[in-house]
Amino acid sequence: MADQKKSSAFITAGESRRITKFNRRITRKLENARADAGRDPALYTTVMKDPDNVVEFDNVCTYFFSDVGTVKAVDGVNFSIPKHATVGVVGESGCGKSVTSLSLMQLLQRPSGQVVGGEIRFNKGDGTAYNIANTPNSVMEHIRGNKISMIFQEPMTSLNPVFKIGAQVDEVTKLHFPDMDDEAVKARTLEMLDLVGIANKEGVYNMYPHELSGGMRQRICIAIALACSPTLIIADEPTTALDVTIQAQILDLLQSLKDKLNSSIMLITHDLGVVAGMADYVVVMYAGRVVEKGTADDIFHHPAHPYTIGLMASKPVVGRKVEKLYNIPGNVPNPVDMPNYCYFRDRCESQCERCHGLYPPEIKISDTHYVSCYRFYDEGELIGYPKSVNVEEM
Ligand SMILES: Nc1ncnc2c1ncn2[C@@H]1O[C@H](COP(=O)(O)OP(=O)(O)OP(=O)(O)O)[C@@H](O)[C@H]1O
Ligand code: SF4
Ligand SMILES: [Mg+2]
Repeated sequence: MADQKKSSAFITAGESRRITKFNRRITRKLENARADAGRDPALYTTVMKDPDNVVEFDNVCTYFFSDVGTVKAVDGVNFSIPKHATVGVVGESGCGKSVTSLSLMQLLQRPSGQVVGGEIRFNKGDGTAYNIANTPNSVMEHIRGNKISMIFQEPMTSLNPVFKIGAQVDEVTKLHFPDMDDEAVKARTLEMLDLVGIANKEGVYNMYPHELSGGMRQRICIAIALACSPTLIIADEPTTALDVTIQAQILDLLQSLKDKLNSSIMLITHDLGVVAGMADYVVVMYAGRVVEKGTADDIFHHPAHPYTIGLMASKPVVGRKVEKLYNIPGNVPNPVDMPNYCYFRDRCESQCERCHGLYPPEIKISDTHYVSCYRFYDEGELIGYPKSVNVEEM
């Protein structure tokens, strides 16, 4: 009976009260700890493991304390973004791609969304780093936009429909360069519009967002994101709302601006074609965890994890005729009640004896290629098991 209740996601009024009380206690505790850490720079300053990285996600756990229980949206994620590189983050809907990037920007819906464990290190440029989870808002305001900026999926909703384009780009420049006079701000805005390939820049400066096409609006969002020459650009599904030819133009633009500004890109997408064309490194996520990571060549030409292999098989290839595209069977497990074995096991067609044990460790199978799968247990170097946080004990 108890199992039946659990599987049907049924919760009693008493259970609901217990969850609400628990959520209130835990989020208050986490918020207080964060406020305390934010008062002392030593508590939000750390060192990079590798000074050639811009960002290091080190066993990051981001949980949402929801009314139906704790959602482990990101659970023990490890990967780095090297300087001047493009890192593609792929995986199906709900696997935690956006939550990973929002944790880095500290834009989670608080207090219910919290980074409960691990470190997110952002390089200050001198080998020391901010530990983002503890960094206070006043410092984050300086990092967001100046050092890290974000381009979202839907350019129409990212822009304010009641203000002209010029005013919206000017506002960002003014915020980050308060000493600039109005003339210099406008000149910089026009320079940015020029940089993102807008031909009639004076005309567009005086237009409203609805007067522009989707591709033009995304160019404006890119101009806003790049107004302060950030070290890292996070592009969350930047081309999903655009048609294929415009997609290609926007991706080319991003790539060339990244080279001009010497920035890195964290490119979040579920479109493997986009990643193949742009990324130097690829991180594959599944149900809140990284299941495989490596160079683009590792992932596209030597995929190791059965999930990555399934993703590759489900991708249409020009010139290859098939009756029906491959479809990975089954569903992602319930994020409130994750199993203690491999999250992909119930959908996996390559299981072995060991798969009935704990969640698989990360295994290094070449200098650049890592996979979390028991199929490589005997041939690779064992790196470690992902560490979940037991919130009940906090
Ligand atoms: N505010 C929230 N409250 C509760 N759960 C949340 C919240 N935001 C995200 N989640 C959960 O976190 C998990 C990861 O969500 P996320 O938005 O990162 O997915 P995604 O990989 O970006 O998916 P998509 O490709 O659809 O954008 C999902 O299970 C989602 O339901
Ligand atoms: S660990 Fe086992 S169940 Fe999990 S993906 Fe690898 S082979 Fe499949
Ligand atoms: Mg997303």
